[in-house]
Amino acid sequence: MKKITTLIIAALFGINVSAQKTTKIDVDATKPLVVIQPTMYGIFFEDINFAADGGLYAELIKNRSFEFEYPWMAWKHLPEAETRFNLVNELTIFNNARENAANPRIVRVDKRDATKDIGLQNEGFDGIGIKKGEKYDFSAFARLKKGDISLLVEIVNSKNQIIGSTTVALKNATWTKVEGVITATETDPKCKVNVIFKGGGQLDIDMISLFPQDTWKGRKGGLRKDLVQLLADLKPGFVRFPGGCIVEGRTLAERYQWKKTVGKVENRQQLVNRWNMEFQHRPAPDYYQTFGIGFFEYFQLCEDIGATPLPILSCGLACQFNSSETTPLEELEPFVQDALDLIEFANGGTDTKWGALRAEMGHPAPFNLKAIGVGNEQWGQEYFERYEVFSKAIRAKYPTIKLVSGTGPGSKGEMFEAAEKALTVLKPDLVDEHYYDSPKWFRENAARYDNYDRNRYKIFAGEYAAQSVATVSPDNKNNWECALSEAAFMTGLERNADVVYMTSYAPLFAHVNRWQWTPDLIWFDNLTSFGTANYYVQKLYANNAGTKTISIKSNGQNLIGKNGLYGAASLDEKNNEVILKLVNTSSDKHTIDLNINGLAENAVGKVISMIEKDIKNYNTINEPNKIIPAESEISITKSKANIVLEPYSFKVFRIKK
Ligand code: AHR
Repeated sequence: MKKITTLIIAALFGINVSAQKTTKIDVDATKPLVVIQPTMYGIFFEDINFAADGGLYAELIKNRSFEFEYPWMAWKHLPEAETRFNLVNELTIFNNARENAANPRIVRVDKRDATKDIGLQNEGFDGIGIKKGEKYDFSAFARLKKGDISLLVEIVNSKNQIIGSTTVALKNATWTKVEGVITATETDPKCKVNVIFKGGGQLDIDMISLFPQDTWKGRKGGLRKDLVQLLADLKPGFVRFPGGCIVEGRTLAERYQWKKTVGKVENRQQLVNRWNMEFQHRPAPDYYQTFGIGFFEYFQLCEDIGATPLPILSCGLACQFNSSETTPLEELEPFVQDALDLIEFANGGTDTKWGALRAEMGHPAPFNLKAIGVGNEQWGQEYFERYEVFSKAIRAKYPTIKLVSGTGPGSKGEMFEAAEKALTVLKPDLVDEHYYDSPKWFRENAARYDNYDRNRYKIFAGEYAAQSVATVSPDNKNNWECALSEAAFMTGLERNADVVYMTSYAPLFAHVNRWQWTPDLIWFDNLTSFGTANYYVQKLYANNAGTKTISIKSNGQNLIGKNGLYGAASLDEKNNEVILKLVNTSSDKHTIDLNINGLAENAVGKVISMIEKDIKNYNTINEPNKIIPAESEISITKSKANIVLEPYSFKVFRIKK
């Protein structure tokens, strides 16, 4: 009665009163249980939502080599009044396949009137993000066939004012990389780049490119620094690349072929991005893959951020949501050879064909590849038969390489059960399970692996994300309910670290204006980027994984959702710390009587908290810090503490033993 009265008064005064509950939690830090693999929390990378071209790959020019299906896409002729239909055909696309079959198209500039400037303007990816004071590297491949032509390269802001320029002289009659540097005088997220042809004569030009100098590790033609930093901050155990469905392709011709993504950038054969027209509600006809980030760059990224590489390869079966185009078993050999050659590319000596290419690309030392995935979300007999062929060949030549198989797109039902059955016989080392489901599903499945068969394969929870509305709904948000539900579910992944070896949220990146799929872990525009609440949940797990699990119980039971509470505990044996992860998914405040067996009499540590009253709230590009972790200190005397778990909160405790 008293409580009801309080609630009525609270409602009248608009006060948010939640119930308070007390729970006893016992942690035993004296008995380490199972090893948590260093690969436990990793990254799933796929070129979806303009994650690579127009995102992580810092190239600012779209369709730099005129290889999009329509070669002038993203380009406008200057002066604007004159179109490509002009009488003299001063700017013409030439197909130069004889000289470069992978990158055949070039622009021939025929400047008959030396007094009149003509040029090309590139729109970039949703504009070009430029920062004041920063330097930009312009480059192009050119050959001057006759006369005297130079390039005036200008960056123009959204008001069409010039905010930086450089002049590039052209001298050589053979293909030469020409370069210039532009310092920008203004910041603008929506710039364009003009390349003006001055003088008279004839010129061939290709691979027109502009990169910021301030890339990750300052590498020329490299990756966007802010985006890699967000990845590095996760301290991921692995990076899975290059996807996802992009591995499979809508058709076999559109599958990802790693050999076409290595070697000189100008010789990499571009391909349409399979996500370009996948969703009618988010068409992106200008979405292509230049492979400026190819397999070398993925391996290098892994090395840079201390993550183990996990490439996934086509198994000869195109996406079964699309064409299901299938390679006959007797013609699978080149696909299998690609896998064997990839292992040589990553690990082989510099005296091997593919190891030599790696060295030529600047990395003589091996990349230390330990595992490889065969197929993505594939299902049915067609998949298992093909997996078996790959498995036999890879195990015969490289017995130490671990093999990862798929289980199809879902984690339940007939298709999934058929996969479990087939894979139990085929014995991959790891099996990739995907869950895109409601936040409720995540909260209700924290015990998913508690009773999994320990004698089968290990689990790679390779793609998961709570969907606030429904899978592939454009209305999905990275809201706190989703992130908190994932945090709850992840307690179960960690508790079962003896069977779950790898986990990754998916997808990873999305451009705020150009995405196809939501939710995503990290969002960005042309200048900035931010982590979602889900990102911080991943970060807290990955940064605080520990090395072995320990028992955490309430009344002798695992914390798997009773009263909305979830928990996992581990030891960090290197730093001699106890790590607790506690999640309160309820609207009630919980007081915890915590007892940690195995602590010194006076133990201290820190608490990292994520608390948000409004579970529908989410971070945005304009308000990126609405839901972020905050740190405080804790002291525990004689192994006991009273702690508070606010409604809808996730807390990580790191306590010195
Ligand atoms: O993460 C987006 C897509 O979801 C992946 O490409 C695919 O594997 C899954 O269906």
